[in-house]
Amino acid sequence: MTKEREQKKPFVWLIGNYAAELKFLLTTLLLLCSFVTFFQFIPSRFTISASDLRVCISRVSQVIIPTPPSSISHLTTTTLSPPPPSPSPPSPPQEKLLPNGILKRVFNPYGSAAYNFVSMGAYRGGLKTFAIIGISSKPLHVYSKPTYECHWEQNINPNDTKTNMSKPMSTVGYKILPDWGYGRVYTVVIVNCTFSEPINNDNKGGKLILYASTSGGGDTNFNTTDKFEVLTEQPGTLDVSVFTSKPKYDYFYCGSSLFGNLSPQRIREWIAYHVKFFGPRSHFVIHDAGGVHEKVLEVLKPWMDLGYVTLQDIRDQERFDGYYHNQFMVVNDCLHRYKFMGKWMFFFDVDEYIYVPPKSTIKTVLDSLEEYNQFTIEQMPMSNKLCHTDDYGKSYRKWGFEKLVYKDVKQGIWRDRKYAVQPRSLYATGIHMSENLQGKTTHKTEGKIKYFHYHGSIAERKETCKVFKNSTKVTYDETPYELDTTLRGIAGVIKKFELKMIGSRLQKTRQ
Ligand SMILES: *[C@@H]1O[C@H](CO)[C@@H](O)[C@H](O)[C@H]1NC(C)=O
Ligand SMILES: *[C@@H]1O[C@H](CO)[C@@H](O)[C@H](O)[C@H]1NC(C)=O
Ligand SMILES: *[C@@H]1O[C@H](CO)[C@@H](O)[C@H](O)[C@H]1NC(C)=O
Ligand SMILES: *[C@@H]1O[C@H](CO)[C@@H](O)[C@H](O)[C@H]1NC(C)=O
Ligand SMILES: *[C@@H]1O[C@H](CO)[C@@H](O)[C@H](O)[C@H]1NC(C)=O
Repeated sequence: MTKEREQKKPFVWLIGNYAAELKFLLTTLLLLCSFVTFFQFIPSRFTISASDLRVCISRVSQVIIPTPPSSISHLTTTTLSPPPPSPSPPSPPQEKLLPNGILKRVFNPYGSAAYNFVSMGAYRGGLKTFAIIGISSKPLHVYSKPTYECHWEQNINPNDTKTNMSKPMSTVGYKILPDWGYGRVYTVVIVNCTFSEPINNDNKGGKLILYASTSGGGDTNFNTTDKFEVLTEQPGTLDVSVFTSKPKYDYFYCGSSLFGNLSPQRIREWIAYHVKFFGPRSHFVIHDAGGVHEKVLEVLKPWMDLGYVTLQDIRDQERFDGYYHNQFMVVNDCLHRYKFMGKWMFFFDVDEYIYVPPKSTIKTVLDSLEEYNQFTIEQMPMSNKLCHTDDYGKSYRKWGFEKLVYKDVKQGIWRDRKYAVQPRSLYATGIHMSENLQGKTTHKTEGKIKYFHYHGSIAERKETCKVFKNSTKVTYDETPYELDTTLRGIAGVIKKFELKMIGSRLQKTRQ
């Protein structure tokens, strides 16, 4: 059962309990309101103003307060608990007739609808530089120019509370908006804080504080500044050797937000394939935005136990409406968080399989691309329903990349590419490539490396083979396909590898 469903249950139960009272209340209110509405149209002493109506409406909306207790656990209680009874608010300024006969209208602002900044993480990028990753109100960034300032408050004497005061240093925060305008209520912001001298040089510790100013965006009358701590370095914890030493891993995978009803079997295949492909000096960071339900966790767990996979629960990001479960924020957080952990960093999805031709290995290919800090990877789009007649009747026993053997060969259409980078040279990243980096990028990787894309197969919990074909070239839905058994050919090797690495514990995994 998915987590999502579990959460809905208590809500239904709650409503069930209240149903009778609620129905009665709502009916009464409805009657009352219709009376009010009705009276409105009687032109006489019975006039009822619009404000009475508003009372009606607001009462109705107040009734629907019961919130499922389990969903509260998602959010901080402070945001959800009803505000303490406050004295009635001051009456707002009213419009007035000026002496010159002009009616001066007023605009009364209340509350604010999107946060100025929601921070996900802040990381060091070197002796003097930091990156702060977050999201921020999109209109604020699209229609105005909010500004950022970074302060570092250094501890003077970490052992003595009395003199443990800080002397602030400041620098302008340079912002990067990496999501190409895809955001919704929120857009992704990377604030790059680069100071003029090394920070926390004496290792006594300190704090990075971000000042986020609207600078007249939202309300031109105000320059609202929010000030908050984004990073603390405890005394004695800064290890500057990290920035220059050889990374722990050769290949680091940063996954974007996983959501939906994912197939455990497809995830099982994907992780086994890629651990085999990238080898022992690799690591995978998976971000769970609701997609890692119990059965998916089961197939990841063995690899987590072996130290190959780090699973991060990012479900709370759902409160903030950004692009596709805030995936641009998530991959940027991953980039900066693990910047010094991997020589190469890969960004692609769990329905995609990286492949290099038989005579090469991922190492030989990447060595040949060493001079580039970024390269992009060509896509091989595979059908998610066409299978070969050979598998008819036994397809349910085959792995996805084993049985989905028809490649879309339609010419002349742009296909997305995926990419890999040397993360130390990046300031921010996107989904299909980074535009904020130092050094060279190449797209000429044909014949060296490619990826097979099984779009639409990953959230399918039923048998994926829908149509069986018996030739090397077929046309289906007006799209030409060709048989491509490249990955089918190595399925046996991957299955054996999985068995060797984690034993038979996943043999019973189903769609
Ligand atoms: C911030 O930008 C500067 C270049 O403008 C770069 O040298 C530095 O590495 C960046 N910092 C981070 C943490 O990305
Ligand atoms: C703080 O205390 C620790 C251990 O008590 C000591 O090793 C360190 O030298 C002290 N640091 C300073 C700056 O006094
Ligand atoms: C000094 O400040 C640092 C960071 O603000 C804090 O971690 C540390 O505990 C403080 N030391 C004392 C003795 O208060
Ligand atoms: C708003 O305030 C910040 C912080 O004091 C300052 O850096 C910024 O320049 C101000 N913006 C404008 C438009 O005055
Ligand atoms: C598929 O084609 C081969 C050769 O053209 C033929 O021998 C075989 O019987 C066909 N199989 C099916 C299930 O149609």
